Amino acid sequence: MKDFKEKVALITGAGSGIGRALAVELADSGCSLALVDWNADSLAETKLLLEKKNVAVSTHAFDISNREKVSNLPNQVMSHHNQIDMVFNNAGLSIVGSVKEVDEGDWNFGLDILLNSVIQMTTVFLPLLEKRPEAAIINTSSIFGLFSVPKQSIYNVGKFGVKAFTESLALEMEVSDSPVEVYCVFPGHIGTNIYSSAKFKSFEADDAGAAIFGANAATKEEAGINFKHNAPTSPEHAAKVILKNIKKKNKRILIGIDAHFYDLMSRLFPRNFLKIIWILPFVRGLFKFGKKS
Ligand SMILES: NC(=O)c1ccc[n+]([C@@H]2O[C@H](COP(=O)([O-])OP(=O)(O)OC[C@H]3O[C@@H](n4cnc5c(N)ncnc54)[C@H](O)[C@@H]3O)[C@@H](O)[C@H]2O)c1
Repeated sequence: MKDFKEKVALITGAGSGIGRALAVELADSGCSLALVDWNADSLAETKLLLEKKNVAVSTHAFDISNREKVSNLPNQVMSHHNQIDMVFNNAGLSIVGSVKEVDEGDWNFGLDILLNSVIQMTTVFLPLLEKRPEAAIINTSSIFGLFSVPKQSIYNVGKFGVKAFTESLALEMEVSDSPVEVYCVFPGHIGTNIYSSAKFKSFEADDAGAAIFGANAATKEEAGINFKHNAPTSPEHAAKVILKNIKKKNKRILIGIDAHFYDLMSRLFPRNFLKIIWILPFVRGLFKFGKKS
């Protein structure tokens, strides 16, 4: 996609972190917005940030795992904006717990948000996107969609699923000469609220997910704060990277020097990958060196 001026983008998870930063960045480029989040207050805060940007903004506060609400969304977006050019399936959350700790309810809750909503959202918007001269679907996976860690099996399955679904869709769009470009985003550690809003079945200071992200702490509250503040990449920088890559048509978008590092290491050492965690203090020093805001 060459530029975002006079386009309309839908962003899920627009009330915080990367979703909010994408909204601000796109509005600055002249793109109108349909913003979705289940947190109505934080969604309203994002809308306030966009007040003087001279673009149309609609807000849609609901849980993206609600199938009926997602089915009704294309009509709502069309009645506000008359067109839709980009869908950012960005919303997500983490569930921390071992396979023995999580139950069927946790699996359904997690996968409905992380994976099934992405599939449904893509499916309901695809016919509208295909009517546009150029359009894009941008699905957010994670570096945890490239390799697995303990106590994140639901998140891992969801994010590996997003990667698989997105790659399959991308191939289908390419062979059918569709105007719809399909992107998969793999953020590394980005300084957002995602670890604070995680659903914890149990908390241990040395959980691998926490260790990788420099969030080691005595309590989960402190870990959430550390996660946000120790990140090598800000959400604003993440949004810039995503949009820059869409303009360049780079379909696989890794964000942050850490994401590139883990991507490489997980390919080189697929079985012993987690053992490299011992060098993390050194590696984290390197990532901070590459920090951008
Ligand atoms: N921050 C990171 O380090 C990181 C790393 C890899 C991947 N990601 C992914 O990036 C995406 C954005 O996350 P973030 O880091 O900005 O987190 P964040 O917690 O700051 O923002 C996520 C937003 O999604 C919303 N949301 C969650 N579940 C929802 C639901 N069921 N319905 C509607 N809204 C919902 C939340 O209310 C929140 O506003 C997520 O998909 C996340 O998994 C983040």
